[in-house]
Amino acid sequence: MHAPVPSSTTPVWAHLHRLPVAAPLGADATADVCVVGAGVAGLTTAALLAREGARVIVLDSAQPGLGESSRTTAHLSNAIDDRFYNIARWHGREGARLAAQSHGAAIDRVQEFVQALDIACDFRRVPGYLFADADQDESGLDDELEAARAAGLRDVSLVPWPIEGGSGPRCLRFPGQAQISPWPYLAALTDDIVRRGGRVHGATRVHDIMEGRNVIVRTETGLRVSAKSVVVATNTPINDRFAIHTKQHPYRTYVTSLLVPEDAMPLGLYWDDGDPYHYVRLAPSRVPGMCALIVGGEDHHTGEEEHPDARFDRLEDWARRRFPVLAESPAIRWSGQVMETIDGLAYIGRNPGLHENTYVATGDSGMGMTHGTLAGMIITDLILARANPWSHLYSPNRVTLTAALTFAKENFNVARHYLNWGRPSAKDDAADLPPGSGRVVRRGLQKVALYRDADGVLHERSAVCPHLGCVVTWNALEKSWDCPCHGSRFQADGTVVNGPAAESLAPAPQAKAPPSSPRSPIIPSP
Ligand code: FES
Repeated sequence: MHAPVPSSTTPVWAHLHRLPVAAPLGADATADVCVVGAGVAGLTTAALLAREGARVIVLDSAQPGLGESSRTTAHLSNAIDDRFYNIARWHGREGARLAAQSHGAAIDRVQEFVQALDIACDFRRVPGYLFADADQDESGLDDELEAARAAGLRDVSLVPWPIEGGSGPRCLRFPGQAQISPWPYLAALTDDIVRRGGRVHGATRVHDIMEGRNVIVRTETGLRVSAKSVVVATNTPINDRFAIHTKQHPYRTYVTSLLVPEDAMPLGLYWDDGDPYHYVRLAPSRVPGMCALIVGGEDHHTGEEEHPDARFDRLEDWARRRFPVLAESPAIRWSGQVMETIDGLAYIGRNPGLHENTYVATGDSGMGMTHGTLAGMIITDLILARANPWSHLYSPNRVTLTAALTFAKENFNVARHYLNWGRPSAKDDAADLPPGSGRVVRRGLQKVALYRDADGVLHERSAVCPHLGCVVTWNALEKSWDCPCHGSRFQADGTVVNGPAAESLAPAPQAKAPPSSPRSPIIPSP
């Protein structure tokens, strides 16, 4: 029995691997640590704690590895996505050094797991290439070379572009990066947790977390897990209402897999320096003599694209002009959500303002494999009261004054979405809504999310996100309702998929009955 991918787009990994199904939690339980969320961060944390002898219970609303972690393109890199010159500006020179060091250690940690558990997940050390497109200014590469070396990556170098044609003449080469197939890796971590006495439960949605010396994690079916500590690793935290959500913002990213002939280009991770930016790597393919070229990018704020298919078209056009893509290459397409923090690094550690045994891991910033692995390393040390060299850098409590402009811009964008409450909808009925699509309409003072299913049946839910009241928008690609404010996502029928909302969309408000027609005048009988 295998778990389905709960989406209309399917990552290439699903075509190559299958994941096991974890049974739901069946009764109240106790643990040393309860981990909420079974992605890279949650499973790594649980696996490391289980190795230390802790009793761990992992709960996931779907299945292990099937959330956003299943959608990663799995670049393992210490070349920080937001560029070292920005990291140094936001976190200082020492912060940039620690960022490079910690991401390198995360790659090593993944490699140790792969070797110790003998995981067949195509883990490979490869170089990474950062390039400017032919029509781009290359001076950013010089700045990044200087900043990377200042951060301790002395072996980064300027080299000629390693593929014939297509791009600028030079690029930065980062040795010692890595790539992996995430599904078998996460399946092996899950097995290892269970083998060491831990428990992993799928199809178990957490409804709320009650803080205290002992934490009570309560599921939506009313079951409870009592634990000494809780780790919330749900992509974006379901237990935090404001503190973190003002410092990170949801973006959608698009991925396509095309075919290139084997040996047509060197194995490696490729990133451009553009805006929107792109990321590329090779992976095994089932087509003889071919590799899959996995191309991602064309990101935008969640909830701000009416025509996501156009993003794929641009992505594929960009790739065909730069890489030796087969002319008749069929494309496998999918998308995912990335949480971008205002200062380029994840939030990992004690949850601000909450009890000190509540930990959080969020803000992948496009580096989910390494940030998620770091979350496991840092939080394990914090729970075991051990010193960790990077805990201060990644602290969710940090205030980055040098990122104040980004903070203001992103939160202005959130405020703009709240104004949707007052805006009229383009259309206020479902008369011409085709099957398989959705639309937000106004009903009196309310907003209603309408979805017409494949059989033509109309479904109605409130369009108001239960997290903090933003109006959701229709995602035509994933057939989901996405909240542009902090990234909550809901299935077409309103069932919650992704936090911070812990609840589904409410039933639609009903239209007020029109005022009843005036009674017929009573005509006195003669
Ligand atoms: Fe915060 Fe929707 S996710 S209001």
